Amino acid sequence: MTRPRLPLSGLDRDTVNSRLVASAASDVDYKGGRTWSLVYWVDDQHHARCERAQSLFMDTNALNPMAFKSLKQMEYEVVQMTAGMLNGPDTAVGTMTSGGTESLLLAVKTYRDRMKSKRPWILRPNIVVPASIHVAFDKACHFFGVTKKVAPVLDDGRVDVDAMRRLVDRNTVMLAASAPQYPWGSMDPIPEVGALALERGLPLHVDACFGGFMLPWLERLGVELPAWDFRVPGVTSISADLHKYGYAPKGSSVIVYRDMGLLRHQFFVAAGWSGGIYVSPSIPGTRSGGAIASAWTSLMSLGEDGFMRLAVGALAASRELREGISKIEGLRLLGRPDATIVTWASSHESVDVYAVADRMAARGWPMDRQQDPPSIHMTVNAVNRPVVPEYLADLAACVAEVRANPGLRKEGEAAVYGLMAKIPLKGLVEREVLKVMEQMYAADGGETKLESAGAAGSGRAVQQIVDRYGDRIFGALERVKQVRTELRKRLGKLRFGGRRSRP
Ligand SMILES: Cc1ncc(COP(=O)(O)O)c(C=O)c1O
Repeated sequence: MTRPRLPLSGLDRDTVNSRLVASAASDVDYKGGRTWSLVYWVDDQHHARCERAQSLFMDTNALNPMAFKSLKQMEYEVVQMTAGMLNGPDTAVGTMTSGGTESLLLAVKTYRDRMKSKRPWILRPNIVVPASIHVAFDKACHFFGVTKKVAPVLDDGRVDVDAMRRLVDRNTVMLAASAPQYPWGSMDPIPEVGALALERGLPLHVDACFGGFMLPWLERLGVELPAWDFRVPGVTSISADLHKYGYAPKGSSVIVYRDMGLLRHQFFVAAGWSGGIYVSPSIPGTRSGGAIASAWTSLMSLGEDGFMRLAVGALAASRELREGISKIEGLRLLGRPDATIVTWASSHESVDVYAVADRMAARGWPMDRQQDPPSIHMTVNAVNRPVVPEYLADLAACVAEVRANPGLRKEGEAAVYGLMAKIPLKGLVEREVLKVMEQMYAADGGETKLESAGAAGSGRAVQQIVDRYGDRIFGALERVKQVRTELRKRLGKLRFGGRRSRP
């Protein structure tokens, strides 16, 4: 192993720059619009403005707002501009965070601690959320010792509110729902969930990490959306990511609460440390001044008209994609067309989604593979619009290729993802994926072989599962299927006395 080491003397600027440029060469091309997730690119001019703010403030630290009053003021303005956009009351308060995950971690921590102070006898707190809620809630529950109780979603991806109601018990500390949810882009029925929250006296967090900076403009453009923000009485907090449709550099999100009575449970105070009395509003200690200043700059530079212009482009691209995909035989769209997420799946057994994804990837389209059911997720931005016709033409061609070659589902990533999606023992998959993480972060630098940042995880891990357990798992699944079919037949006979009179 050759361990990377510090150069004995610092390299000159040109050498460092050229190495940086060279290392970026293998990354996905997000400026050309061919990437459907991870980056929310506007243009070079917007980038330059945020870059200037980053560089002016990159050394500053929002850990101590007394020392950096500039950061405190910018954070305040970002929070209040966001609160206004989300129709928050005059009492609305909040903080900036490092991203959607931190905002959601904080929501769970805040409501757990709030309930701890109100009902200290709750020893096993739980939260009730839709099955489609972002996986950051799993992380939050894991970190904070909270149980996640999951309500199923209906066919259109919206949560079944009656099921949520049935799951609420004496240990429930909060409800959450999404506007919209990540996997299919459907909006949960926030007014109904809000009513449930009021009925049971529980706080409701709306995860608008994705939609927070897009839905207000869609609403102005006439898109019919269910109410989802602070106008819904039961909503107590909302998260909205600046580094998504706020078009800010990575590392910024906002969490807004209805009032200080809620936010105070987010804060951390330790008075007994020899380093002094320590207070911190969120999870990190040191907080990047560059992230705050550049997010502030993004909002200020774009203004309402800039956001509207970008929303018009993203909405048009989403509609063109939906229309085009719905015309491709063998594909179907999942979820509701509420926002700027497009998710497609197979509508015919001859079309294996993962095999189509492999073909598309070979044509240079990064693919976000999902499971339950196998599907492809697309986050749509204005920058994607020019490539939509090319994407649709390639997609139609790839679907035709897969239909003509059923064997493709057993090749490449398709075989691996196909198996992954079918394995009922998710614990087994998680164990194997953990091993891949260990390999990736190994002392020798490991290998970066994750096919995508999507939910399905790493090809290598699954390949190991296929090699080790493949035959056994497929055999077992086949047997389960046979038993289920046999049982259905017998039950059918019992119920209908053997007569096949009912359709
Ligand atoms: C609805 C939703 N919530 C939370 C997150 C997590 O955000 P982050 O990746 O910034 O932590 C995402 C990310 O896509 C999301 O779409």
